[in-house]
Amino acid sequence: MKPKGHCTLTIEGKSFELPIYEGTEGPDVIDITRLYRETGYFTFDPGYLSTASCHSTITFIDGDKGRLEYRGYPIEQLAEKSDYLETCYLLLEGELPNQSQKDEFIEGITHHTLIHEQMAKSYNGLQRDSHPMAVVVTMVAALSAFYHDSTDINDEAQRLLASRRLIAKMPTIAAAAYKYSIGQPFVYPDNGLDYASNFLHMCFSLPTEDYQVNETLSKALDRIFILHADHEQNASTSTVRLAGSSEANPFACISSGVTSLWGPAHGGANEACLNMLKEIGTVDRVPEFIKRARDKDDPFRLMGFGHRVYKNYDPRARIMQKTCHEVLETLDIKDEPILKVALELERIALQDDYFIERKLYPNVDYYSGITQNALGFPSSMFTVLFAIARTVGWIAQWKEMIEDPLQRIARPRQLYLGHNTRDFIPMEER
Ligand code: ACO
Repeated sequence: MKPKGHCTLTIEGKSFELPIYEGTEGPDVIDITRLYRETGYFTFDPGYLSTASCHSTITFIDGDKGRLEYRGYPIEQLAEKSDYLETCYLLLEGELPNQSQKDEFIEGITHHTLIHEQMAKSYNGLQRDSHPMAVVVTMVAALSAFYHDSTDINDEAQRLLASRRLIAKMPTIAAAAYKYSIGQPFVYPDNGLDYASNFLHMCFSLPTEDYQVNETLSKALDRIFILHADHEQNASTSTVRLAGSSEANPFACISSGVTSLWGPAHGGANEACLNMLKEIGTVDRVPEFIKRARDKDDPFRLMGFGHRVYKNYDPRARIMQKTCHEVLETLDIKDEPILKVALELERIALQDDYFIERKLYPNVDYYSGITQNALGFPSSMFTVLFAIARTVGWIAQWKEMIEDPLQRIARPRQLYLGHNTRDFIPMEER
């Protein structure tokens, strides 16, 4: 990278030149990698509010304008014209595939949908009432105990194999977590079905009955997967990059991403959002909850509202809202009370000074819970669905990092505010 210019930092009367790099889009960055060596100072940015932790060519977000692009393609176009596996190819390879590349990719993924039989048995070691995310974190980490031939990060062929295995096996692992939680037998993948249909089949079919996947519903799920496929350097992706920077194997790295995604401030928000809408229950209670969200002394937040990057309507939320209506219409769910509450809550919040001033808009999780619930998933599965979809983003970002010659272990520093050196106090003197 060549700097486009320099800026000057003056500390205690001394001036230092810092290079400035220009991205294709988005804010320029000031390169501070030599700051400590040259000045003896660290920068301080808890929560990375002003820090670009890496350079990347995968996903671009313009949070003020509400834009999201994968490899330059707007999310709206991908959601309408592409499908999830094609989007996976795009994220991983950088370009849309031609027909034979697409066929080869789908074939490559489809051949890895089964999980090791012994691994399937290891679910029995977990409690039935475990949260499905607890099961998924465990099973994704366990992949490194079963697939030793794809853990060498320095071997390109092994990296490719691990990537395909992860994308292929995530739905199988997730569906098994669901079946385990409700005490039904695991359903083997059907490689004749597309990615989303196969997942619905593994979750909802039974050996005792015929199950036909509804095409509109599987298309809606496929679109949900596209919307969640990547989102640049969010908490879980940064976790994957941080874990991967120590050269840990890809299965271990992706399981760390699943862990980070679980939290209610990140992927867990869709579950928290549906629970909140259910708690509100009826439209007349909306003002009471808006009041609570505004109250600084009340820890309550409107789940599915606000975003670190989007200070405008999250473009995924718009598509999700449309998808939600389509799903409810297909299933002939009329007058869904939770949807009424969601629409009213959104309407009031978008007119409320508190939300306007802070630029708080619905995020992708706001409508995804209602949609996934209508598809038949319990709220505990929502973040699991997110994890399936985001796996490709984590892999693409991990792969980009591993293949970067400038890659080195990520090791942030700190502002230490603890004790100065002091002598050990013997027990009798404490
Ligand atoms: N409800 C009420 N107030 C909120 C909300 C909300 N959902 N979100 C932010 N605020 C307020 C904050 O209290 C703060 O107010 P203040 O300036 O008076 O102190 C201001 O808006 C800025 O909020 P921060 O917490 O500083 O914003 P940050 O970027 O750190 O947090 C986050 C972003 C975590 C997403 C936050 O908006 C939130 O908790 N939202 C609810 C959870 C959620 O929906 N998460 C999903 C994110 S999308 C995803 O991961 C796919």
